[in-house]
Amino acid sequence: MEIPGTLIEILAKANYVAVLTGAGISAESGIKTFRDPDGLWAKFNPMELASIDGFMSNPQRVWEWYQYRRDIINKAVPNPGHLALVEFEKIFPKFTLITQNVDRLHQRAGSTNVIELHGNIIENHCFSCKEPYFGETDLPGGEVPRCPKCGGMIRPSVVWFGEMLPIEALNQAEEAAMECDVFFSIGTSAEVYPAANLPYIAKRSGAVLVEVNPNPTVLSPYVDFRIAESSAIGLPNLVRLLKQKKGLE
Ligand code: APR
Ligand code: ZN
Repeated sequence: MEIPGTLIEILAKANYVAVLTGAGISAESGIKTFRDPDGLWAKFNPMELASIDGFMSNPQRVWEWYQYRRDIINKAVPNPGHLALVEFEKIFPKFTLITQNVDRLHQRAGSTNVIELHGNIIENHCFSCKEPYFGETDLPGGEVPRCPKCGGMIRPSVVWFGEMLPIEALNQAEEAAMECDVFFSIGTSAEVYPAANLPYIAKRSGAVLVEVNPNPTVLSPYVDFRIAESSAIGLPNLVRLLKQKKGLE
């Protein structure tokens, strides 16, 4: 797909670029998204597996589901879309990467200072006393590990439906949306708040809004540019054109 020259012109002059990513950027790393036809929520009930009530009513089922997802994520590798955002960090004078993803593929690709709005699936903590947990996670029979400090149940350090997002992360993300010159919404259905607010905050604050997604979303009518293809193809193309424009290649 042709990337508009006007977008390259704007990016060549941009001082501050902010990016919000969703599950779509990890799709080409073999990690299922949530709302695509073959996504996780087509097979599993999010309220049973990604909520406090779900964990309280059947902690072992939730624990096993996260172990299953962790196993897939640990085997996954960053794709060219993740790597292109590492280049973004080098090209733009100021850059903020905000993600809804919990897989830490951005960090494994080499992105630094990633704002994680929904926590991460790699770490665990105690459901009762919040103490970080570094003990064994693969217990016989899929048993839920217990906190050595208080005996409480151990849970993954992701943000579940109905839980507050980490306030510091959300404040930093909103600040980036308000101050950036260009805001990218990449690989997200833009349906889950408060993350889905960010592109609108950016637009209202005068940023150029760019969406990278092979499918249209609720955000699409509001964006200035749509790159309607996989982020694993669109983002490396954009980096190549931008480097040519800026004489970096
Ligand atoms: N490149 C870019 N985008 C893609 C690709 C791809 N290769 N493949 C799919 N997509 C797009 C889909 O078109 C869809 O719009 O990625 C988006 C994924 O949307 P969701 O599955 O809703 O994922 P996301 O937006 O990240 O969900 C937000 O919802 O369930 C909660 O906490 C969970 O963080 C998640 C939040
Ligand atoms: Zn505890």
